[in-house]
Amino acid sequence: MTHVDVAVIGTGYVGTTTSIAFAAWDHKVIAIDSDREKISKLNRSVLPFYEEGLEKRLEQYRGSGNLSFTDDLKQGIARCDVLFIAVGTPSSPDGSADLSYVEMVARQIGQMMDRYKVVVTKSTVPVGTGDKIKAIITDELKKRNLSFSVDIVSNPEFLREGRALYDALHPERVVIGCETETAKKVMATLYERAQAPILYTTIRDAEMIKYAANAFLATKISFVNELARLCEKTGTNIMKVTEGMGMDSRIGPQFLRAGIGYGGSCFPKDTTALLNLAREQKIVLPILQAASDVNQTQVTWFMKRIQRTMGSFSGKRITLLGLTFKPETDDTREAPSLKIIEQLLQNKAVVNAYDPQGMEHVKKIYPQVVYKLTPYEALKGADAIILATEWREILDLDWSKVKGLVTQPYLFDGRNALDPSAMRDLGYCYVGIGIGERGDY
Ligand code: UDX
Repeated sequence: MTHVDVAVIGTGYVGTTTSIAFAAWDHKVIAIDSDREKISKLNRSVLPFYEEGLEKRLEQYRGSGNLSFTDDLKQGIARCDVLFIAVGTPSSPDGSADLSYVEMVARQIGQMMDRYKVVVTKSTVPVGTGDKIKAIITDELKKRNLSFSVDIVSNPEFLREGRALYDALHPERVVIGCETETAKKVMATLYERAQAPILYTTIRDAEMIKYAANAFLATKISFVNELARLCEKTGTNIMKVTEGMGMDSRIGPQFLRAGIGYGGSCFPKDTTALLNLAREQKIVLPILQAASDVNQTQVTWFMKRIQRTMGSFSGKRITLLGLTFKPETDDTREAPSLKIIEQLLQNKAVVNAYDPQGMEHVKKIYPQVVYKLTPYEALKGADAIILATEWREILDLDWSKVKGLVTQPYLFDGRNALDPSAMRDLGYCYVGIGIGERGDY
């Protein structure tokens, strides 16, 4: 197999994992970032985020000589034929994707490139960004009186945090938006070892596919969360309802878990960006808008449910178990736990919290919360427990021991992750999401 020399610009979650995957497939990868401290850590195999087992793989591929890290963009661009842009596209205040990092990298590529290049966007970018990147690079080349050709490719990622390397190495599909045969050939070589179907599209279609996939998954979640509200009123059980729905292969069982809503770095940002893109085009997307609205209100809906059960929060000791937006990550961006803390504090509760990975981040936003090193410490004397993230460690607690530690047996499961009847048998007043009032006690 021929190897490709690849530069990956941006060493965040996506850039680092993509780099490791290409190195695993025996390509020669230089990962580049302007943040020197990050580079120096990566050169010692220290990751800027948490993912089980990833540092070991990083060490392995650095050792193999397939993967190196540098802050020297010029050297990276000179050595490689394929340049991946994997920098962040955060939300602008108006909800649109902020493309300033992507545009800056495009400018730098135009200022530094010394021959034909394939420039690939991995970052999630709105439709039309490929054209923008091409225009910026061509413009910079013109300023240097050069006219090397450049091919733009859109190759979106579909990585799940916490399982990003697995997803990168075993993709279900590879989407490649490219419009020249040369670029297509390079990309095919790059993904030869992925053993996944490759879908070739136009650049614009590939850009849209990424947003469409995330928006659809977010909509699936919001659909069941909306339905959960009705299940609760009608004495039906959303868990059984989604089990029955998911057995229909046209629906499928995934992303039908009702809970306190989706968070993280992708779904909230990407749905907002797509809604913004639609607004710019003067199109309304009522379904996606509703999915976003349901997600915005899901925590408040659950908190009202909790208050109906246990009364006012004022002066009560409430223990929050789980802070990250999902298990197996230290990411607390847009985590429902943050909204829960906000509402508890507003209502004068005393909040104790435990999370295996996310406490440091949340401490900076909410220093008033009492963070404990073990779940059992956090649960001592609690008037109520709210489970916000279904970490294995939390689900596997000795719930009978916990029962002896708490003052009141209220257990609010925001992820429907515990067994309601087992919890009720232990004497808890268990409330899940959309499990039906009649089954609550
Ligand atoms: C997601 C996409 O899955 C991935 O393909 C894309 O590249 C980035 O966004 P990620 O944000 O890591 O990945 O998390 P994911 O596992 O998809 O979960 C997102 C959120 O939805 C979490 O807060 C999770 O708790 C919630 N969720 C997920 C549900 O509430 N119910 C479900 O059934 C599934």
